[in-house]
Amino acid sequence: MSARNQRLVKVVDALVKDLHEFVLDHRVTEEELRRAMDFLTEVGKNDEMPGLADAFAMTTVADNVTHEEANRSATPSNIEGPFYLADAPSLSPPYRVGRPDEAGDPLVFRGRILDGPSGRPVPTALVDLWQADAVGNYDIQDPGAPAFNLRGRLTARDGTFELRTVVPGAYEIPKNGAVGRLLKQIGRHAFRPRHIHFKISADGWQPLTTQIYFAGDQWIESDSIGAAKPGLVAPLNDREGVLVSE
Ligand SMILES: [Fe+2]
Repeated sequence: MSARNQRLVKVVDALVKDLHEFVLDHRVTEEELRRAMDFLTEVGKNDEMPGLADAFAMTTVADNVTHEEANRSATPSNIEGPFYLADAPSLSPPYRVGRPDEAGDPLVFRGRILDGPSGRPVPTALVDLWQADAVGNYDIQDPGAPAFNLRGRLTARDGTFELRTVVPGAYEIPKNGAVGRLLKQIGRHAFRPRHIHFKISADGWQPLTTQIYFAGDQWIESDSIGAAKPGLVAPLNDREGVLVSE
């Protein structure tokens, strides 16, 4: 048997054992099992499996397992999510994203790219970033938005970069399907705290996919997908009408 199949046998055996224990512990009836299967069938038909994995924080737990080693000595990883586009435009300094009249609170975001263990600046790094607009929509959700709005790739030099943008809005994960119905039935909201997504890469270093959140956010303690990690929260300071995060 191949190593891959051995792994499959092991995890399927463990999963079935855990599911049996779950049914016994919670005295799950035939009727409840049937309804659970109907729910999963609906999720599959609606192509909602990624949303369900997010809502149960399975994607975040798998992210933690996958990047456990690197996360010990570096900015924690965070899930990529469904809104990444691989071919965002390369930006020229001074870096800014969004329409010239982009609605929202102006934000100056200052980032540092450091070697995890030593804390020394990484000489040159590629920073690929994307975010929602001020009301929580990504460009691909808003027919009126220009292509690649609030996205771009910039080069961080000597371990630093500065980006001018707007504060992204909080948004809800899709809630009109089976997953949203379940969240409602169990009294959970669908909001994600405000965040900016980053993919950072540099020759000689492991790439990092993460998100940065903002201190004081209303939804940060109850992120609907459980992805907001304490190590990823940045301050948001008002400096003469411009919000600065660094
Ligand atoms: Fe997002």
